[in-house]
Amino acid sequence: LRVLFASSEAHPLIKTGGLADVAASLPIALRGLGVDVRLVLPGYPSAMRQVREPRPCGTLVIPGYRNQIRLVEGLHPDAELLVYLIDAPEYFAREGNPYSDPTGRDWGDNADRFMLFCCALVLLARAQGPIDWQPDLFHGNDWQTGLAPWLLNDGAISPARVFTIHNLAYQGLFDRATFDRLRLPPSAWSISGLEFHQRLSFIKGGILCSERVNTVSPTYADEVRTPRFGCGLDGLLRELKGRFCGILNGIDDRIWDPAHDPLIAQPYNAENFALKAENKLAIQRALGLPRNEEAFALGYIGRLVEQKGVDLIIAILPELIRDPLLQVLILAAGDLHLEQALLDLAAAHPRQVGVFIGYDERLSHQIEAGCDAFLMPSRFEPCGLNQLYSLRYGTPPIVHRTGGLADTVVSATEDNLSAGTATGFVFTEPRPEALFTAIDQARRLYRTDPESWHRLALTGMAQDFSWTQSAQRYLALYHEALADRLGPPP
Ligand code: ADP
Ligand code: GLC
Repeated sequence: LRVLFASSEAHPLIKTGGLADVAASLPIALRGLGVDVRLVLPGYPSAMRQVREPRPCGTLVIPGYRNQIRLVEGLHPDAELLVYLIDAPEYFAREGNPYSDPTGRDWGDNADRFMLFCCALVLLARAQGPIDWQPDLFHGNDWQTGLAPWLLNDGAISPARVFTIHNLAYQGLFDRATFDRLRLPPSAWSISGLEFHQRLSFIKGGILCSERVNTVSPTYADEVRTPRFGCGLDGLLRELKGRFCGILNGIDDRIWDPAHDPLIAQPYNAENFALKAENKLAIQRALGLPRNEEAFALGYIGRLVEQKGVDLIIAILPELIRDPLLQVLILAAGDLHLEQALLDLAAAHPRQVGVFIGYDERLSHQIEAGCDAFLMPSRFEPCGLNQLYSLRYGTPPIVHRTGGLADTVVSATEDNLSAGTATGFVFTEPRPEALFTAIDQARRLYRTDPESWHRLALTGMAQDFSWTQSAQRYLALYHEALADRLGPPP
């Protein structure tokens, strides 16, 4: 089975969030199942620099586009995974974030950039580029690839299509003038086409024109079929019926393994769990807090956007740190107001609040390893990877019961604790009081019942969130898509 896997980011070539982790670890897992998966990404500078053995393999001719586009083939830095880079310097040779300029605003030509990417994907999907390789199936991820399934729907010979929604809140919406500029056929401007409330929607292309559509956890798949979480697309997703499902993300357990993690101060495992404390001292020092093994250290890592509920943490922080033995350690970047609010709190409480604003891979591993518990009060969460990393690092997550968080964390109720199944703390309303109560419960268990805490952490560490099962589910989805292929096979 040959699969062309398209994404706008993939770890470690280029990353802003969980999509990058999945777009590398899932293809690698599928290769392990014997699938000939090849990954294709825009040719961002950091990706061009990092692929192994890069080799120009010819040009792609895209109608209406005057500049030459090179196709570069290379290998993923850590795996035997073929990677194709679409080298269109005018659009992709920009350092930093792939979607926004250094002030945090979306690049003004994002529609043009990802339209070009999608046109290149179509050529590769039909073996009309410089490489002699015809995929049986095209797998697109998120809106940046959404027009490819739609463009492949022109009646000509095409591979089958699977489209994965990692976050329905990002849809790739643009105005009518952009639609005209991209020279999409006027007939596409309709409710049954790419139009969405008087705007061009990239994500609709992927949803409408793929044999199978999925999202990244079963609960989020249910949620997005309701108006509350559907971002206006719940009706469309309901209409897909059995063609839409949720498949839980896995994690790369070689990169996220506390026993062999070169980025943390002191590797540890379930047998020598006490060694984890060394990592607490290390991260306290790294974030400028007094070193104190007795402190109850809460971690947070993530993008500062409404989704993640960091404002809930900020709201209760003054109350929380009335407890002199409680510390909060935060690694985050995004919304400038939230960044400033966090920095202000750190400045006001230098012994209890440690904040690093920016993107830092090493610190993210150190927080997972060094904290006692991990905060994830997301308002919605398609899957979430940090709670999975926390479980694996014996750092019980405190989460809002939504999406993938609901599917992966078992609440420390009395019953679950005595049954030995609990792995974290789950609250039901995304409100500050509810988060506070959950943290309070965690803190009490940590301090008054170390034995139960230990068991909770080890139960989390023993969970299997590797790709073993989920990659099999994708493989089954591929076969369903192939069986249902809408057009003639290549
Ligand atoms: P999302 O994709 O919505 O951002 P996930 O939990 O799925 O959320 O994945 C986030 C990924 O990005 C994780 O691998 C996390 O460690 C990483 N990450 C987020 N913010 C930062 C940061 N400031 N520095 C380092 N890594 C980060
Ligand atoms: C998105 C979601 C996150 C998910 C990730 C990878 O960024 O916000 O919940 O884990 O994609 O699928």
